[in-house]
Amino acid sequence: MTTLLHNVGELITNDPAADDLLGVVTDAALVIDDGRVAWVGPSAAAPSADEAIDCDGAAVMPGFVDSHAHLVFAGDRSAEFAARMAGQLYAAGGIRTTVAATRAASDEELRARVAHLVGELERQGSTTYEIKSGYGLTTPDEARSLRIAAEFTDETTFLGAHVVPPEYDGDRSGYVDLVCGDMLTACAPHARWADVFCDRGAFDADETTAILTAAQGRGLMPRVHANQLEQGPGVAVAVAQGAASADHCTHLSDADVALLADSDTVATLLPGAEFSTRSPYPDARRLIDAGVTVALATDCNPGSSYTTSMPFCITVGVRDMHFTVAEALWSATAGGAAALRRTDVGGLTPGQRADLMILDAPSALHLAYRPGVDLIAQVWREGKRIR
Ligand code: NIG
Ligand code: FE
Repeated sequence: MTTLLHNVGELITNDPAADDLLGVVTDAALVIDDGRVAWVGPSAAAPSADEAIDCDGAAVMPGFVDSHAHLVFAGDRSAEFAARMAGQLYAAGGIRTTVAATRAASDEELRARVAHLVGELERQGSTTYEIKSGYGLTTPDEARSLRIAAEFTDETTFLGAHVVPPEYDGDRSGYVDLVCGDMLTACAPHARWADVFCDRGAFDADETTAILTAAQGRGLMPRVHANQLEQGPGVAVAVAQGAASADHCTHLSDADVALLADSDTVATLLPGAEFSTRSPYPDARRLIDAGVTVALATDCNPGSSYTTSMPFCITVGVRDMHFTVAEALWSATAGGAAALRRTDVGGLTPGQRADLMILDAPSALHLAYRPGVDLIAQVWREGKRIR
């Protein structure tokens, strides 16, 4: 079964061989065969297919790749957000509130909440999403978080090292041993990645190194929450571990930027977190100009960034983090794919998955130009319309 999308006003392919960053084809068409992109080119030269869809001049682009989300949780922290907007500062300790609510929730409740958030993500154009554990922080609670996450995505991340839970107050090393031992054993079968929150109030460089080393021994690939709250060792540890991504990167030294530029580690920026904690935005320009690969993601979580909207992240990234619009669109698609070490998603060149959006706009520029407006008319994954 082949499908032709024709009369596409602007098609973003993210073809690395193109002269422009986004590999834009105007007056374009795209053929899908068996869930994959089979042909891309000018609409006038399009081959025939079993089914043809007239896009009526709309823009078509790859589905978003949201490489950083914490979706398995219960409870509500809206009061914490309101207090921050009234002047209070964000601290890592708030995570414990969600941990208590998550432990108390049933599997069915957690599953229903993930399903709801996944529905939000997909409606807003995300066709690939990562889901972390990190609000269980006991062996059974982390393992069930990952089992539930795996019902929704292949990109599951073990974040047992989110904070030290209250029952280990005064015994940090006992908790690190648990994370590296029984908890990792129970979680590794359900996870592709391991992540550590390496920051003030969470885990230090030695603890992060120990946990990521143990996780790699079990076949999990590393990623790190780094330099969110202050300049610290997170980025250096991420690069030393060969992490796919260092996430947040809010407070970076020149040495951190140089380390990232010389590595395969993607810097994943999370504008929702700075927005919702009223923190200074990192400068995407500084990173991109230094040659760092940059991704954009939602960081959807109940504490620091309760958004599932990649268009929102693009808007804020362009307005306040100095991405050009084209760079923000790239970082939200191909950049996210790089942060998950995926080549099958994040672009629309022949052979890649036909994961795409048809926009209610003549160009994808409108995603930043029209803040807060729902411009996602259709979402397709592996050649099938899902929204
Ligand atoms: O990525 N920084 C660590 N973890 C989350 C926040 C978690 C929370 O506050 O519940 C983040 O921002
Ligand atoms: Fe996060």
